[in-house]
Amino acid sequence: MKGAAALALCVAAGAAAAGWSAATPAEIAGVSNPARARQHWILQCQGCHRPDASGTPATTPAMAGIIGKFLSVPGGREYLAQVPGVATAALSDADLAEVLNWTLARFDPAHVPADFRPYTAAEMAALRKNVLRVEAARVRARLAAGFASDGDRALQK
Ligand code: HEC
Repeated sequence: MKGAAALALCVAAGAAAAGWSAATPAEIAGVSNPARARQHWILQCQGCHRPDASGTPATTPAMAGIIGKFLSVPGGREYLAQVPGVATAALSDADLAEVLNWTLARFDPAHVPADFRPYTAAEMAALRKNVLRVEAARVRARLAAGFASDGDRALQK
């Protein structure tokens, strides 16, 4: 009985994983296992950011349709790796690079520059040493001010 239940669970999990991979691009640069990246997002990130990265009013800014823009302003690439939620996550450098690459592809592919180089474990290891603390919001506002002005209200936190 116990064995049968466990087997049923495995089959269900397998079907869910297959369904997920069918719904996403075959390959995301810098993401070797999209199902694992999504799992990390669920466990480590979406509590604040919400499942769809729409954010939590008053505490966590929306990222959906926006975060890719940081890659086009000086200092933005570093910022994405150094915000506290990223830099201090309980994930290895490799898993952190993977979930950040996945986050960009999943929530704002339109703004990821064509020449984007995916984050690597080595880069993440170096960047996360300099975690932003109270200054994160100020740095964010300065970077966002450099985005092309296209009326992004979501950026004015
Ligand atoms: C405790 C809440 C919390 C958790 C958990 C969290 N974040 Fe965040 N995140 C924030 C807040 C708040 C900001 C805005 C910058 C700041 O003030 O820290 C932010 C900013 C970001 C940014 C920069 C883009 C922007 O809009 O400023 C990225 C990328 C990001 N988070 C990704 C992640 C990922 C990936 C995880 C999981 C590994 C994660 N976050 C976990 C709260 C959180």
